[in-house]
Amino acid sequence: MSASQPVDTGLTRSATFLVFSVLRTDSSIQAVRRVLSSVPDIAKNISIRDVNANLTCVVGIGSRVWDSVTRLPRPAELHPFPEVRGAKQTAISTPGDLLFHIRAERRDMCFELERQLIEKLGDAVQLEDETVGFRYFDARDLLGFVDGTANPVGASDVSDAVMISESDDSGAVGGSYVVVQKYLHDLKAWRALSTEQQEAIIGRTKSDNVELDDADDGQQQAHKTLATIEDASGNEYAVLRDNMPFGSPSAGQYGTYFIAYSRHLWVVEKMMERMFLGNPPGLHDRILDFSTPITGSTFFAPSLRSLKALGDE
Ligand code: HEM
Ligand SMILES: *[C@@H]1O[C@H](CO)[C@@H](O)[C@H](O)[C@H]1NC(C)=O
Ligand SMILES: *[C@@H]1O[C@H](CO)[C@@H](O)[C@H](O)[C@H]1NC(C)=O
Repeated sequence: MSASQPVDTGLTRSATFLVFSVLRTDSSIQAVRRVLSSVPDIAKNISIRDVNANLTCVVGIGSRVWDSVTRLPRPAELHPFPEVRGAKQTAISTPGDLLFHIRAERRDMCFELERQLIEKLGDAVQLEDETVGFRYFDARDLLGFVDGTANPVGASDVSDAVMISESDDSGAVGGSYVVVQKYLHDLKAWRALSTEQQEAIIGRTKSDNVELDDADDGQQQAHKTLATIEDASGNEYAVLRDNMPFGSPSAGQYGTYFIAYSRHLWVVEKMMERMFLGNPPGLHDRILDFSTPITGSTFFAPSLRSLKALGDE
């Protein structure tokens, strides 16, 4: 049994998403190994200042630096985020060697953890993106819909969806693939739609979040249908999403930071293809008529024990 990092802490009021590239010198890689191994302790030191704030941090490591930074076996499916070029939008692939997914009920605790990380990482890394997310009412995205409802619930369903087992990949047990994408919304155009039109795009009702029926085969499918993945025998593959709204009204910036943890990378990639290319091809996810991805990166979050061992010489 290999415990995972705190992947399953659920949505909090506040979250910070940090993506860095690692400078490829021996000293930078050494420094990064030391900092990554101490993340659980840094988080613990801050979290004891208010244990009720549920501060956690998950570390993800990208394909490009996996071998040098971890010296662990390569997770079987790990590769960079593959661009998906659709008719309306392209799911672009952007640089990212390290991901820190910081969550807490208190913004100040996220801030403090980020401050200490930045100080310790120093010039071994280069910032690619920092996004500060917040809870919007009852966990709604900025399109106005409750986001996260279909997530697996309960320890066993969650670990089935996110945690790599011995039989999946014996060198990566207790870890998860993590995919992130930062989206900007055209809220003005979205708000020009009727509530019924918006509901048809998402596949749920807006006020009370009730699932709508799937469209017939060959018809335009809702987001929730395109994002439902089944294998040939009808088994459904769930992922764990912890999306957060972010933005700045004065700058006209309204976004969703998408983050999904999965036991199988192919499941998230299949969702991406169904959304961007459409199913059937040509009928892409209409969310993309109002949402543009500006980042896209894939990481692997190793087990807690593997992470802590990175500091060993
Ligand atoms: C613009 C960005 C996105 C927004 C605003 C968004 C929003 C939503 C909302 C409101 C729901 C319905 C409630 C729920 O079950 O959580 C949903 C469902 C879902 N979304 Fe997204 N989503 C976005 C992007 C993505 C992407 C890129 C993926 C995967 C690659 C994805 C995967 C899913 C899945 C798996 C479900 C649950 C489907 C089900 O089983 O019912 N979403 N999303
Ligand atoms: C945690 O706090 C203790 C006591 O202040 C300190 O000695 C230790 O270095 C801290 N650990 C980390 C990883 O910051
Ligand atoms: C912290 O997490 C626990 C366990 O998931 C939960 O029961 C509790 O409500 C959370 N605390 C806050 C302040 O949300």
